[in-house]
This record gives sequence, structure tokens and C-alpha cells, in this order.
Amino acid sequence: MAAKICILQIFTLISFLLPVTYSIEFKFPAIFNFGDSNSDTGNLIAAGIESLDPPNGQTYFQKPSGRYSDGRLVIDFLMDAMKLPFLNAYLDSIGLPSFQKGCNFAAAGSTIHQATPTSVCPFSFDIQVNQFLHFKARVVELLAKGKRLDKYIPAVDYFSKGLYTFDIGQNDLAGAFYSKTIDQVLASIPKILEEFETGLRRLYDEGARNFWIHNTGPLGCLAQNVAKFGTDLSMLDELGCVSGHNQAAKLFNLQLHALCKKLQGDYTDSNITYVDIYTIKYSLIANYSRYGFEQPIMACCGVGGAPLNYNSGISCGQTKVINGTSVTAKACSDSTEYVNWDGIHYTEAANQYVSTQILTGKYSDPPFADKMPFLLDLKF
Ligand SMILES: *[C@@H]1O[C@H](CO)[C@@H](O)[C@H](O)[C@H]1NC(C)=O
Ligand SMILES: *[C@@H]1O[C@H](CO)[C@@H](O)[C@H](O)[C@H]1NC(C)=O
Ligand SMILES: *[C@@H]1O[C@H](CO)[C@@H](O)[C@H](O)[C@H]1NC(C)=O
Repeated sequence: MAAKICILQIFTLISFLLPVTYSIEFKFPAIFNFGDSNSDTGNLIAAGIESLDPPNGQTYFQKPSGRYSDGRLVIDFLMDAMKLPFLNAYLDSIGLPSFQKGCNFAAAGSTIHQATPTSVCPFSFDIQVNQFLHFKARVVELLAKGKRLDKYIPAVDYFSKGLYTFDIGQNDLAGAFYSKTIDQVLASIPKILEEFETGLRRLYDEGARNFWIHNTGPLGCLAQNVAKFGTDLSMLDELGCVSGHNQAAKLFNLQLHALCKKLQGDYTDSNITYVDIYTIKYSLIANYSRYGFEQPIMACCGVGGAPLNYNSGISCGQTKVINGTSVTAKACSDSTEYVNWDGIHYTEAANQYVSTQILTGKYSDPPFADKMPFLLDLKF
């Protein structure tokens, strides 16, 4: 009896000291990713819609790698943490890339809302889900024919045991500000999330059970938006970010969180994890020097110099003649000092910071504890 009470007291003490978490082992056999440039590992480039020039990719891949960054993206660091290889892009099919451990359908510029003829990127979320359905049907068909493709395609049960990751919505909001008032942007959010829900439900119907959904970041802090919409100081918050854009991101995230809760209620046989990327990125921009950065908003690769080093007419690596002078958007001397790479996307250093924060589990709902094996054994 006395011993039992003592153990109970120790457990109470432990629960008091540690937040309530569920442990995650990252034993997913495969990852299927959907999203925009935050996690595109080569789709838009393989589709031939845009091209990326050096210095993109210089820090890690030593050449442009289909990623909008100087190096790895958050998804790359997450794959590493899960002991899985980098995800190949669905459309980047030449040279026998392996899709055994998953496939990436994310495409830069994509939106949740259905693409229109004027969209930057035709691969909106509904199309990415269609591509996944085609991918899965092909895999099932090929597996039925024999085993010689095992190295290149997932096993059938990977579709139910795999993790489905999402990072999309930023372009729906950022794009809307070019033609809508803030009130109209805010009012459009429920409709955007309805389309997102439709896609998630289609994936569930195809057997997806583990969902990991990133919310959207503080887009008002991107140099691209500060340059265009932050011309008047009254539009900026204390960090120098466009308040309206961040307000839209926060409302989107609030409603996205509610959607995740609703799906968790509907799909009790599934894990639906909401990840608060906004808070991670906003804290990084607010307290950048504490995390080893020197520039929270100014782009590393761009033209024009401080305060933004950004010109919407010249993307990273491009050369253009402006007013009779040839100008090239070059990289800064040390990208690890910058949070932002090209005015729109984060540097590898910032992506690495964001992924380590994700992996603490503190920003997830439900929260999880990574690499805390003793918690695995606590059974009450
Ligand atoms: C949910 O996640 C936990 C921990 O990773 C795992 O043990 C469980 O099998 C998952 N549930 C489903 C339905 O895959
Ligand atoms: C920045 O750090 C300070 C001091 O720890 C903290 O109070 C503040 O909440 C942080 N800002 C953000 C946006 O996280
Ligand atoms: C080009 O020259 C015009 C006229 O001098 C000036 O207003 C404009 O800002 C210049 N453009 C750039 C990108 O420097």
C-alpha cells in the first residue's frame, strides 16, 4: 500500500513537471506530401512552368534542386528525422527516382482553391489529390503484376500506414490581397477551407489515416508582401510585418484548427495532427538574434539592399536590365544570418530551426513527445 502511494506520488510529480503528451515514434513507412513552395521538392520545375537559377540550392545541393531555397526545406529535415530519404517530386520521373518511401505532390505557387487559367500554378490541392489517386491506382496495378518494381513503389499497406503531410493555403491568402480588401479576404477563408476539407476527405476515403497538417506562416513578414503592401508605416506591426496579412493568416489558422478538431471527431480511427507553424515562425522573426540570425525580414538573395533587398521584377539568380543598367539578384555572403532567402521563401538555416521546433512536439495538437522514450513506458 505504502509503495503504491509512493509510486502514485512520483507519477503525479512527473505529470506535473511534464505537459500531457502522446509519444510519437516516427515509424511511418512512407510520406505523401501535399502543398506549395514551402514543401515543393521539384514539381513546378519538372512541369516546366518555371526555372530556378543558381544560387538557389547552393548551400546543400550545390545546384538548383527544384526547391525554392538555398538548401533543404522543412520537409527534408522532417524526412531525416523520420529516417526516410528525401521525397521525390511526382512529376520529376526521369532517371528512375524511387517513390518507395513516398511521393511529393506539392507544387510551388499552388493554392487550395481550384486553379484558374490565370493561376500561377495549375496544381491546386484538388489536382494534387487527383495525382495521388492516379499514383495509388498505378501502384496497386503494378504490384499486382509482380514484384520487380518493389524498390521503386510503395507496398499497398503503406497507403494506410503512411503519414500524409500538408502545408498549403499561403498562396490563397497572399494572392487574394492583390485584388481584394482585407474584409473580403477574411470572408473568403471558410470557402477555402471547405475545399481543403473536401480533399482531406477524399484522401481518407482512399485509406489515409495519419494526417499531419501545418498551418500557414506569418505571410505579412515576407519581404514580397512588405514591399507591396507595407508602404505606409500604419500598415506594419512592431516587427515590420504587414498586419492585415498576418491577421488573415491567424484567422485562417483558427478555422483550420477547428477543421482538424472536427475531422478528429469524425475519424476516430485516424491521427490528425495540427502543427502551429505560425507561432514558430513569428517567434523566430521576433527573437531572431537569440536563435543566431541577424536579419529577420530582409532577403538574402535579391537586389536593392536594405531594408528589404527585394524587387518583384528580378527573382533570385536572375539578371535584368533596369534603366539601362544590368542588375543581378545575388546571394548575401552568409545565408545562415538570414531568415529569408529570396523575399518569399526561408533559408535552409531558418528551415532547420523551424523543423527542430516542430519536432519538440510542443506546437502540435495533440502535442507529442519526440525522443522521450521513458514516456513511452508510462501506462496508467
Ligand atoms: C496513430 O499514431 C500512433 C503513434 O504514432 C500509432 O501507434 C497509431 O497506429 C496511429 N493510428 C493509426 C490509425 O494509424
Ligand atoms: C520573444 O522573447 C520574449 C522574451 O522571452 C518573449 O516574451 C516573447 O513572447 C517572444 N516573442 C515572440 C513573438 O515569441
Ligand atoms: C528607373 O528610373 C526612373 C526614373 O529615373 C525611376 O523613377 C525608377 O525608380 C528607376 N527604377 C529602378 C528600378 O531603379
